[in-house]
Amino acid sequence: MVSIKSAREIELMKQAGKVVGLVFQTLEKQIHPGMSTWEIDEIVEETMLANDCIPSEKGYYGYPASACVSVNETLLHGIPSKKIIIREGDIVSVDIVANYHGYHADACRTFKVGTVTERASRLVDTTKDCFFAAIKLIKPGVHLGDISHFIQEYIESRGYNVVREYTGHGIGSHMHEDPNIPNYGNPGTGIILQEGMALAIEPMVLEGKKDVRVLGDGWTVKSRDGKLTCHYENTLIVTHDGYQIITMYEGEQ
Ligand code: MF3
Ligand code: CO
Repeated sequence: MVSIKSAREIELMKQAGKVVGLVFQTLEKQIHPGMSTWEIDEIVEETMLANDCIPSEKGYYGYPASACVSVNETLLHGIPSKKIIIREGDIVSVDIVANYHGYHADACRTFKVGTVTERASRLVDTTKDCFFAAIKLIKPGVHLGDISHFIQEYIESRGYNVVREYTGHGIGSHMHEDPNIPNYGNPGTGIILQEGMALAIEPMVLEGKKDVRVLGDGWTVKSRDGKLTCHYENTLIVTHDGYQIITMYEGEQ
């Protein structure tokens, strides 16, 4: 069942989203070559706790950290580690969820560390551009499948692939709620969007083939072919005539 959020619930989610935005604003300034993904996790956790939020990911099905930090060929759920050092030219996805008084907001950015290759840069830009192009479709009355289809078409027509095993999702008092929001699908299918729905839309893109593998740690998801991957996500609320993104900081590009 897809829940419709009350004004109060939306307010709490917006607070959570504000802190998510603040974390990205902080990270943008601090990510640098030589830093471990563990240090990124520390910044995420400290910023959330200092702003009256709890990192929702910590302990979620036993997940051991406050952020998923996924470098280059790691698509999702990279566990922060003192041994994973970020290098100039890496693309680093930081996927975070904040819980403010029982309500969640979820987002991901992929940061370019220093100067990255043209190849990596195009992948990162395309993934983000895809998100912003796709959400233009969002308003009450639209089928969810229209959004999913648009994302797939946008990504595949540019020579990339979307992951099949992981999807976007509804969000609210739980990190993952109905509906599932695949990055592939058919127009005119799926639920019809309504005002007050809260959705996490998240293109997860592979430069090469669509296949992924999960490492022995039970979390880390990598491209099977070792090629680059990218992820961009925001939480948004469906409004009477469109949507409102709640996980970007003021002035964020
Ligand atoms: N933030 C992820 C998402 O976009 C989920 C992270 S799984 C966790 O849905 F275990 F790390 F929490
Ligand atoms: Co999500």
